Amino acid sequence: MLARLVPAPLVRWFARPYVAGASLEAGLAVARKASEEGLLTTLDLLGEDVTTSAQVDANVAVYRRTIDALAALPAAMRPSVSLKPSAFTTRDPGGVVGPIESLAALARERGVALTIDMEGHRWTDLTLDLALDLYGRGFDVGTVLQTRLYRTADDLRRIPRGMRLRLVIGIYRESSRIAMVEKPAMKRAMLDAARFLVARDVHVEFATHDVACVETFAREIAPRAPRSSEVQMLLGVPRKALQRRLVSGEYGVCIPVRLYVPFAIGWRDATAYLRRRMAESPNVTWLVLRNLFSR
Ligand code: FDA
Repeated sequence: MLARLVPAPLVRWFARPYVAGASLEAGLAVARKASEEGLLTTLDLLGEDVTTSAQVDANVAVYRRTIDALAALPAAMRPSVSLKPSAFTTRDPGGVVGPIESLAALARERGVALTIDMEGHRWTDLTLDLALDLYGRGFDVGTVLQTRLYRTADDLRRIPRGMRLRLVIGIYRESSRIAMVEKPAMKRAMLDAARFLVARDVHVEFATHDVACVETFAREIAPRAPRSSEVQMLLGVPRKALQRRLVSGEYGVCIPVRLYVPFAIGWRDATAYLRRRMAESPNVTWLVLRNLFSR
């Protein structure tokens, strides 16, 4: 409700720290700067929840351009791409398969890793099945599981050795019938999931800004598989000191940190993105307002 009342120019202003800018070039510039600071990145086009097939085509075209641009960068700093299935279909969820498979094929050709983000629970089966199928056929495709969902405990068992799996608590509000409602429980489940996956040689991408949670991961879990552990954070969330400690090995092993860098094509999409985040999570609205008043 509050999210809808905030005028677009203000939303845009709030969005600044969290969004690289309104062009692919802006996303690439942020990735370059992060790389100079020793951080990896994943680029995400803000274009989910499309309503027309022209928007689907436009999203595919931007991702193709993004993958081509990333292929020209040195492999050691090359960003991956992250995408949301709802950016690739208007009505039929199954419609995402063709466009995402074509992007995975291009990404494989160009040496770019691809992650399929996880949206609300109605997307879970489709996203997981698609990611597992593509990975099984040799594409460098990873995906995301949300530890707030009770079903995740079973889904974790489906992730094969070597696959990239981002663990998050989940940003979408879900019913208490299918999901935990208390954050500490979601965080405990996240650490348990990381322990489980590391023991199975899955490449764990531990995505949270919770300092205590990251430190437990860094001290107790990552050292068991330093080459297949990574911490991920969103662009704009102030965690520079923690990121430096992770990459410099202060917790015993050097742990790569990857920033999730959303970019838009035009500010309209960026504004819509932040409004959705504010609507989905009152916490985000609070953070945005707090950022406004603390500037
Ligand atoms: P929590 O919300 O408890 O935050 C921990 C601390 O960080 C708090 O002090 C909080 O104030 C601060 N903080 C968190 N977000 C902040 C912000 N935006 N600005 C300022 N401070 C902030 N979800 C999903 O459902 N599907 C997905 O595919 C992804 N993908 C994804 C990628 C990456 C790289 C990250 C980091 C996160 C996601 N998420 C996601 C979102 C995730 O599920 C979760 O909603 C957020 O990470 C916030 O939860 P935390 O674990 O950070 O804990």
